[in-house]
Amino acid sequence: MLMESYVVALSVSTPKLENINGKDLRTSIVREPLYNPVYFDQTGPVGNKPADHIEDVFVYSENHYDYWCEEFNIERSSWKHAHWGENITLNHACEETLRIGDIVRIGNEAVLQVTFPRIPCFKLSWRLGQAISVLSDIIDSGRIGFYMNVIEPGTIKPNDIFTVIKSHPQHPTVAGVSRMLQSSGTSIVQMLEVKSLPDLTPWGLTWINKKIHTIEELSQLKEYRWLGWRSFTINHIVAETHDIYSFYLSPSDTQAVPAFRPGQHLAVRLQVENEVIERRWSLSEYCPDKMQYRISIKKVDNGLGSSWMHAAKEGVQVEIKAPSGDFYLDNTDIMPIVLISGGIGVTPMLAMLQAHLLKDKNTRAPIYWIQCVLNKDNHPFRDDVLAKVEELGVHIHFVYSGPTENETIGHDYHSCGLLSVDKLMSILKTENIKFNGKTIAIPPAFFSFYLCGPKPMQQALYSGLKEKGVEKVFFEEFVSALAMNNADNTLDVATVTYKNAKKQLSWHLEDDVSLLELAEFYDLKPQYQCRSGQCHRCKVKVLEGKVRHTLSVEGIGEDEVLLCCGVPDSSQLIIDV
Ligand SMILES: Cc1cc2nc3c(=O)[nH]c(=O)nc-3n(C[C@H](O)[C@H](O)[C@H](O)COP(=O)(O)OP(=O)(O)OC[C@H]3O[C@@H](n4cnc5c(N)ncnc54)[C@H](O)[C@@H]3O)c2cc1C
Ligand code: FES
Repeated sequence: MLMESYVVALSVSTPKLENINGKDLRTSIVREPLYNPVYFDQTGPVGNKPADHIEDVFVYSENHYDYWCEEFNIERSSWKHAHWGENITLNHACEETLRIGDIVRIGNEAVLQVTFPRIPCFKLSWRLGQAISVLSDIIDSGRIGFYMNVIEPGTIKPNDIFTVIKSHPQHPTVAGVSRMLQSSGTSIVQMLEVKSLPDLTPWGLTWINKKIHTIEELSQLKEYRWLGWRSFTINHIVAETHDIYSFYLSPSDTQAVPAFRPGQHLAVRLQVENEVIERRWSLSEYCPDKMQYRISIKKVDNGLGSSWMHAAKEGVQVEIKAPSGDFYLDNTDIMPIVLISGGIGVTPMLAMLQAHLLKDKNTRAPIYWIQCVLNKDNHPFRDDVLAKVEELGVHIHFVYSGPTENETIGHDYHSCGLLSVDKLMSILKTENIKFNGKTIAIPPAFFSFYLCGPKPMQQALYSGLKEKGVEKVFFEEFVSALAMNNADNTLDVATVTYKNAKKQLSWHLEDDVSLLELAEFYDLKPQYQCRSGQCHRCKVKVLEGKVRHTLSVEGIGEDEVLLCCGVPDSSQLIIDV
């Protein structure tokens, strides 16, 4: 049972742009406390609008304020009530005893139900002035806060008593669910038990499904995974347009290949005349059961790798690293999905579309396919995608920037010119999704957007969508690889310590893996984006030992390394991961 508790403050807020870690992002976390009565209708406190979750009410407790101020060495008076972004500040709450589904009366009128623990994100660590690593301490502590939905509307005011009127002793506690979601040791059975709870909200169910999917996916992704290069044979080539060919690749050892996340890519190593080059090509087909991969490559003028591949014949061998990349479809998302591609940027989208359509029709979110190309002759996979509309009800919109005289709008394509954010928003409509027998209307700002295309198009759409308040916009940039840095390799083996992750791993020259690939193979998850030495997202400090880069990188200090193309240059290496 919850200890005696009462309301000390209330708050409402609407999303505002805040500069969070260098980016302008919408958030409702910054707010002022109120000490007057606030009416809670069926959607939460009147006047309140969360930026990125759809629960009615967030509750946090003052006794946790005292705890964290001491932990973080912060003057208690510098935190006003509502500092953690809560709508209701209680004097005392205990997430270790409060259970999912518990029903609570606050004051004389309002009745609310506990729905889910807070899922803390970087916006919270920013608000608290702490490093992002603090989020796992918050989850471990159980002092996490929780969401509630309004069952009976009413006015809530300071000093109102918070009384649990219906407890569910057989349900997991708020803190317990929060830890299960974070822990890498959580089993499917545990999560399925949580999933079977009655009255789960779409928000809670999304997080549970995500966790189930992650547990299942991780075991699939690990099976047959290899480290370093593996020989593959090009066993089939298909011309998709005059300058885009698809290549079907099977492992030369005829063993199975691991699954991958839809949107990921392969690193391919080619011997082009006297030079060894490495290029990345997205997996353009999602067939989890197959013994082969497909990539689709556009021939670039004077491009070394793409020209070599276009000239290759069936039976030729290439070397490949296992699938990687952090641009992939979140297949647990229940929100509508928008896949937007320009030109050859269509390749990761194809895998995403196929993966999405493999899902059960009843749990599948609506999906939009928006493809920008020059005209019909330059329109790869057109027939494949059109077949999906009829079969599976995908919303399709083809944008042609240079249609020929014979091509007509409404027949061959849907609009012409360039895709602006306003045009994009006019294509999308509010979608009704079905959840637990209820229909919920979701406006486009809550959709998940995936972008891949020419840089100007991608940048314009990304910033336009952000300005319109869209939270979930993901993109991949098809940067060309930097030149290889062919330094003499004198070191065969090294011990690498990833300091903060507390892992010591053995690196071998013959595996030809970067510090990033080595870490990932052993389940560490350092940050990265381009994986080709250009974005510097994977830059970390070298604490002891020496490194070298396999690509010609610029702007890196002597005590720094880019994990994606860095390798040890001393037998002992300690890096700050
Ligand atoms: C994650 C990821 C996924 C990708 N997926 C795909 C995909 O699915 N399909 C696809 O086709 N591409 C994809 N790419 C792009 C791909 O990796 C290659 O960049 C692309 O195929 C061109 O490679 P290339 O070797 O033919 O050209 P490069 O030899 O790299 O040359 C690229 C361009 O730069 C010019 N250039 C090269 N060197 C110089 C120089 N010294 N000075 C001036 N100009 C120069 C060339 O003329 C050419 O126009 C992806 C890239 C990334 C990062
Ligand atoms: S991931 Fe971009 S530089 Fe390493």
